[in-house]
Amino acid sequence: MGQGLHISFLGVDGIGKTSLATHLAQLLREHGLPVRLISWRRALEQNEATPWPGHALQQLWLETYRLLYGGSSCNGTPVVLPRDYPHWRDGDYEDRLGRSEVSGSRHAGPTAAALVELAGNVVLFPEIVRPALQRGEIVIQETFPYKHVLKQLLIAERIPSDPVHGELIDHVMSFMTTMFGTAAFQPDIGVLMDGPISLAYEWRMDESGHVGVLEDFSAAGERGKLSFHRLQEQTVDAFRRVAKDWNWLVHTVDDTGLATNMSRGLELITAHPALRAAMADRHVGRD
Ligand SMILES: Nc1ncnc2c1ncn2[C@@H]1O[C@H](COP(=O)(O)OP(=O)(O)O)[C@@H](O)[C@H]1O
Ligand SMILES: [Mg+2]
Repeated sequence: MGQGLHISFLGVDGIGKTSLATHLAQLLREHGLPVRLISWRRALEQNEATPWPGHALQQLWLETYRLLYGGSSCNGTPVVLPRDYPHWRDGDYEDRLGRSEVSGSRHAGPTAAALVELAGNVVLFPEIVRPALQRGEIVIQETFPYKHVLKQLLIAERIPSDPVHGELIDHVMSFMTTMFGTAAFQPDIGVLMDGPISLAYEWRMDESGHVGVLEDFSAAGERGKLSFHRLQEQTVDAFRRVAKDWNWLVHTVDDTGLATNMSRGLELITAHPALRAAMADRHVGRD
């Protein structure tokens, strides 16, 4: 374990993770602490030119989407994704997929996507997260990647298949939950952002007017508000279970406004003994 501190968030899409993570980063920077926001997506940009882990993270990222939409069609035409990451990135495929109505999804694809997502995180943590912690940085990860793997598996489950495949999905689900619970992945401070899914939906619609690729069951051929609610309800049940098992903090948001929710969240997180110690150390160092 390094000198730094790893802080990670779970919560349904639109509930305010990015907002709180950004506010927290700003607050800690104002205290003079070295803060790094880390995600697979950010690592793609920052390690773009490096064969390792850059190219591996790019290829695995693209393959999660190819698998998620494996066998699907859009307006009667098979979904075809580029073979290489630069074409994927420059062609805005992620946004286009988020807006597409697909049909004919196969359960094998999203199940394999979950395993590739796991593989990406097996690279991300020791190669990107841990070195930053060893440099003494405060690593803020706005979404604990358990969430992405969970959603890929829930999408796989949603696509009609046979009991044999259902059993396989259950095994992968239990394996990945165990894996994310180990010291290799667990943050020093984990925060579950809980709250009404209807608010999260409202905030997301106000923000962008549509939900993103993995935010509803559209990869399983179901779009719309109901599909968003159905997927998010299943994720929130799982989040509550793991947050309890992993002893995470719980920040419950409500409709009192962005500023109030943010300050309550910051209060909760900065009261954590590990973060208080880091902030106090910094003050002593400065004097
Ligand atoms: N407590 C809140 N009250 C009102 N709007 C909020 C609140 N929290 C977040 N938002 C807004 O909701 C949208 C989604 O928030 P975001 O932080 O991106 O959520 P997430 O990262 O969990 O998907 C943003 O436009 C954000 O400004
Ligand atoms: Mg976010």
